[in-house]
Amino acid sequence: MATDNRDREHAPASDALEGDSQYAAHLERSRTVWDRWSDYYTMSETDLEPMREAAIDRLELQPGDRVLEIGCGPGVNFERVRGEIGEHGELVAVDYSPDMVAKARERIDNHGWENVEVRRADATTAEFDEPFDAAIATLSLSVMPDIRRAAETVSQSLVPDATFVVVDVRPIPDGPARVLNPLLWRFLRWYANWNPDDDVVAALETVFDTHELVDTSLAGTLYTVVCEKGR
Ligand SMILES: C[S@@+](CC[C@H](N)C(=O)[O-])C[C@H]1O[C@@H](n2cnc3c(N)ncnc32)[C@H](O)[C@@H]1O
Repeated sequence: MATDNRDREHAPASDALEGDSQYAAHLERSRTVWDRWSDYYTMSETDLEPMREAAIDRLELQPGDRVLEIGCGPGVNFERVRGEIGEHGELVAVDYSPDMVAKARERIDNHGWENVEVRRADATTAEFDEPFDAAIATLSLSVMPDIRRAAETVSQSLVPDATFVVVDVRPIPDGPARVLNPLLWRFLRWYANWNPDDDVVAALETVFDTHELVDTSLAGTLYTVVCEKGR
């Protein structure tokens, strides 16, 4: 894939964790997995639309807000977020997969959105010049190599009192169906490079002042967490 000029300014900042070979291997596998799925992703785009929409509503965005999205994929949340922040707001989205970034930029170009920008970067080590009013991660935190550090990066990038909404997947939390968890793990690991060593909700609890599990579905495997940064 040809290098996009827009990448020169924001080179992937994974060097910060150089030396951590497990981290590097996970990140590299994410790139391969998500580059591969980038061509087929639109098929599953509508499946989770109600949960994505509800998550964006929970950000309570205002016109003019600056929003961060991590692990944006092909940009499935862009239209709704942009609808809330209007043309004077700003959406900065980050994804590690070059092919996903290309798809997301195609979407931006097709719509002519001048205030939506996609950076190719590792969300865990990305740095931003200005803080954000809100942040969102849908189905992306759980595939990152160090979930707590990724959550810390988001928190550090937010203004005080900001909201971070996360939609993600986890093993079946309770009941006899838990017997299926090993199969589910394997599937998610193969399909999404899901990170089995880290727990998204526990990481969010550690990093943010408050966190609340607000929606669950599919036997508790799909969930939304609303986090507040505090002052
Ligand atoms: C399941 S897709 C989710 C895409 C989109 N947010 C959605 O709701 O459909 C996970 C995305 O996270 C991205 N990703 C994985 N690890 C990442 C990292 N360390 N930094 C940034 N993006 C990452 C992948 O490239 C992929 O596009």
